[in-house]
Amino acid sequence: MIEQPTALITGASRGIGRAIALEMAQRGYAVAVNYVRSRESADEVVQHISAAGGSAVAVPGNVGLRKDRDSIVDQTLARFGRIDLLVNNAGITSPGRMDLLEATEENWDLVFDTNLKGAFFLAQRAAREMVSLISAGAIARGTIVNVSSISAYAVSTNRVDYCIAKAGIQMMTWLLASRLAEEQIRVYEICPGVIASDMTAPVTEKYDKLIAEGLSPIRRWGQPEDVAKAVATVASDAFPFSTGDRINVDGGFHIRRL
Ligand SMILES: NC(=O)c1ccc[n+]([C@@H]2O[C@H](COP(=O)([O-])OP(=O)(O)OC[C@H]3O[C@@H](n4cnc5c(N)ncnc54)[C@H](OP(=O)(O)O)[C@@H]3O)[C@@H](O)[C@H]2O)c1
Repeated sequence: MIEQPTALITGASRGIGRAIALEMAQRGYAVAVNYVRSRESADEVVQHISAAGGSAVAVPGNVGLRKDRDSIVDQTLARFGRIDLLVNNAGITSPGRMDLLEATEENWDLVFDTNLKGAFFLAQRAAREMVSLISAGAIARGTIVNVSSISAYAVSTNRVDYCIAKAGIQMMTWLLASRLAEEQIRVYEICPGVIASDMTAPVTEKYDKLIAEGLSPIRRWGQPEDVAKAVATVASDAFPFSTGDRINVDGGFHIRRL
């Protein structure tokens, strides 16, 4: 087992997850960089971390599949021997962004498997490992961070599956936080606003306009690094008496305004 704390970050090959991986590595964590398809991008993240003197491993696997989730955790433990932090970041948007009246069960299942079911059962598996590691005295405590979205409460009628799955992340965070506090594991929800990534690239023009018109009080696109800083802070010892919290990283989008 290595001396450094270890972070397992899902969907860390690109976008927000990539920034979280780099931030955690900079803060002294060994990092398991999960991806499902983009092997080259995941390898690039690993190389970036290694070149800066850190430790990282690329860990393939679809978070929506049980055998892959087990393999993601097993590979992380095989390499580093511990998991101190799980970041449930992997996610997909609603395929085809279809109107509510056209939404399909196939898309619903895909989005829920990836964005909600996968996150919950990966948290369950990681929490079991953390409990064993803590009781063996190998780690002092654990942290689980779930990445949700402003879509958890802001309606988009062309992304019903995405919105409902993201809304579920808040209850999931509360449930995990409530049960795992006695196990010395703290759980947080990070709620990003409009962040520049491959996910939002197809709707750049729409959001450019909305942001210029004042969509959020802070009139700029969020950057993956904005989210990464929030994740690193809740994973640190900055909030020792807090769990279950939602941290907004949205330029103030959540404030209702007249
Ligand atoms: N961008 C935004 O404005 C925004 C706002 C709020 C919330 N979020 C949330 O933030 C998270 C990251 O979003 P992003 O914008 O960084 O997205 P992104 O640029 O599209 O990257 C998605 C990442 O998730 C991985 N992934 C997708 N499906 C997966 C699966 N089944 N198993 C494992 N990994 C999987 C991808 O891996 P591959 O590279 O291998 O495909 C990639 O690393 C998501 O949960 C998203 O819902 C994003």
